[in-house]
Amino acid sequence: MCGIIGIVGTKPVAERLVESLRRLEYRGYDSAGVAAQIDGKLERRRAPGKLRELEAVLADHPLPAATGIGHTRWATHGAPTERNAHPHIAGRVAVVHNGIIENFAELKAELQAKGRVFSSDTDTEVVAQLLDETLNDGLEPVAAFKATLDRLRGAYALAVLVGGEQEVILGARNGPPLAVGYGDGEMFVGSDGLALGPFTNRVAYLEDGDYVVVDHHSAKIFDHAGLPADRPIKTLAASAAVMEKGNYRHFMEKEIHDQPEGCQRTIAAYVDTLTDRTAVPGGLDFKAIERIQIVACGTSYIAGMMGKYLIEKLADLPVDVEIASEFRYREPALNAGSLAIAMSQSGETADTLAALRYCQAKGMKSAAIVNTVESTIAREVDVIWPIHCGPEIGVASTKAFTAQVSVLTALAVAAARARGRIDEAEEQRLVRVLLEAPRLIAESIQLEDAVRGIAVEVAKARDVLYLGRGPMYPLSLEGALKLKEISYIHAEGYAAGELKHGPIALVDEHTPIVILAPFDSYFEKSASNMSEVMARGGQVVFITDPDGERHAPAGARVVVTAPRCDPLIAPLVMSAPIQLLAYHVALQKGADVDQPRNLAKSVTVE
Ligand code: F6R
Repeated sequence: MCGIIGIVGTKPVAERLVESLRRLEYRGYDSAGVAAQIDGKLERRRAPGKLRELEAVLADHPLPAATGIGHTRWATHGAPTERNAHPHIAGRVAVVHNGIIENFAELKAELQAKGRVFSSDTDTEVVAQLLDETLNDGLEPVAAFKATLDRLRGAYALAVLVGGEQEVILGARNGPPLAVGYGDGEMFVGSDGLALGPFTNRVAYLEDGDYVVVDHHSAKIFDHAGLPADRPIKTLAASAAVMEKGNYRHFMEKEIHDQPEGCQRTIAAYVDTLTDRTAVPGGLDFKAIERIQIVACGTSYIAGMMGKYLIEKLADLPVDVEIASEFRYREPALNAGSLAIAMSQSGETADTLAALRYCQAKGMKSAAIVNTVESTIAREVDVIWPIHCGPEIGVASTKAFTAQVSVLTALAVAAARARGRIDEAEEQRLVRVLLEAPRLIAESIQLEDAVRGIAVEVAKARDVLYLGRGPMYPLSLEGALKLKEISYIHAEGYAAGELKHGPIALVDEHTPIVILAPFDSYFEKSASNMSEVMARGGQVVFITDPDGERHAPAGARVVVTAPRCDPLIAPLVMSAPIQLLAYHVALQKGADVDQPRNLAKSVTVE
C-alpha cells in the first residue's frame, strides 16, 4: 500500500507529482506529500487526508522545481497526521516509502543513541536517518544508499532525494513493486505503470533486491549484490482514458456498468467463438492435474470460492481455496501434482505472493488470474490467465470480481472437457451460455432503479445478513463484504443452511436479510430458509429470477428479479444487484464510495 512517485524532469514537478499521485490514491489516501530541492535545500509540502488537501497546500506554498518525489499514504506505523506524512526528511535525505521496515525499532534505538532526533512515529523515518548518518560517515550517495539498504529488514519500495544531488533519484525494491519510466530527457520511478502513464509508457520493473540510480537520461540498475542488472523495458498499453469517470459520479458506479464489456472481453479470451469451444491460454493439461490450490485474499478469495463450486461440479477436479494470509504461515501439506492458482487483481498482494511462492517451493506448477500482467505475481507464475476488464479504480472491487469469475467459469468448462466429464456438444452448449453472460449482466444492471429504492431502507439498518446456497453462498459473502466496505454497515454472509446453527439468533424485525436464490436445484431449500427468517420477523430482500419469483413463499419484503439464466452464469448475472445495493446504500449514507475509510486497493504489506 502507499503509492510512490519520483520525477527527474524538465518541467514544473509539483503538478506532475500530484497528477501521478491521483493515479496512486487507490493505494491509500490517509495523507499525501511531495519534496524537491530548492536552491540546494530539501523542501516538502505535506497534508493529512486526501490529495486535494495537499493541492491546497501547494496552491499557497508552491514547490518550484523540476525534480521531486511524492507519496500517498496508507498508514501502518503512526497515525495519519501531517507529522507522519511522507516524504520524511533527515539532514540531506528525503524519502518516500511503500512497505514496512520490520527492524525499524532496533535501528531507531541505535540512531537515537547516536543523538539523532526523530520527528515522526513512522518506520520510514529510520531510512532517512540511517542514510543521512551513513552520508555523514563520508560515503558517497550511491554507496551510502546501498549500505543503508543492507541494514533494512522488511518490505520496501523507496524513492530518495539526496541534498546536493539535484538531478538524481535513488530507488530500491524489496517486495512492493517499483517501476522505472523512460521519457525523453526525463526519467521516472513509481509504484506502477499507471502512475507513470501521463509521462511515458516505456517501463522496466525492478526485481526484489534491486536498487537504481536515475538521472535525466538513464537508470542504472543494480541487483542485491551491487552488480549491474539488465531489466527489460516494456511498452505498456495506453492507460490515460481508463482514469476517467465519464458521466458517472463514482468509479465504482462506472465499473459496475463496465461489467458487460469487461466480461465480454474476458470471456472472448478464453473461448473460440468460431467453434464455440473453450480455448484457455497457457497450454496446461487439466487431465494431468490432480488438485487445484487457490490462494487469494478478500474479494479475490471469494471469487476463488466460486471457482471451487464451478470446477468441482463440472470437472470433478478437487479444488482447495484458502485465504493466503493463513495458508502461508500454517505449513499446509501439498503435493507436487497440484496446480497452484494465485488469484489477485493487483498481482501485488503480499500474502498471496508469499502463498504462491510456498506452493512453488513444494514443486507445484503455478498459474495466476490477474488484472495486471506486469505485476510481480504474474511475472512469477508458469501460466498467466489475465482478466480483461481494464484497471479498476474504485477500491471496492466489482468488475474485476466478475471478470475473475468469468475466467474461472471458462476454466471449469475447459477442465470438464479435458477430463472427459462432458462431451464436445455439451462444451459448445456451455460456451454459448457463457457468451450470453455479458448481455444478461447488462439486463441485471437495469435493476438499478429497483435496488435504489431498497437501499433507502437497508441504509437504516445496523446489521444486514446475506444468505445463499451453492454458488450463491460465495456471492452472499461478496454482497456482505461490499456493503461493509463502502457503507460501514455491519454485514455477514452465511451459507443459508447454517442459519439455524447460530446466525438465526440475529434475526429480528430490524435486520434486513438478503437472500440470493435463483430458481436452481437449491431453490426449495433456500425458500425454506426464507420462511424460517420471515417467521421470526426478518425483513427479507429476495434476489431471484422470474421462476424464483413465481415460486417464492409469500411475504418477502421486496423481490428483485434478475434475468433468467443457465445456472452456469448465475453468479455473474446475480452480482450486479448486490453491488448496486451496496453502492446505493453507501450513497444514502453519504459515504466516500471510491475511497472508503481505512482501505487501500493494493495491499503490499502482510
Ligand atoms: C474488496 C477487494 C479486496 C481485494 C483484496 C485482494 O473489494 O477488492 O478484498 O480483493 O485486497 O486484492 P488483490 O485481488 O489485488 O490480490
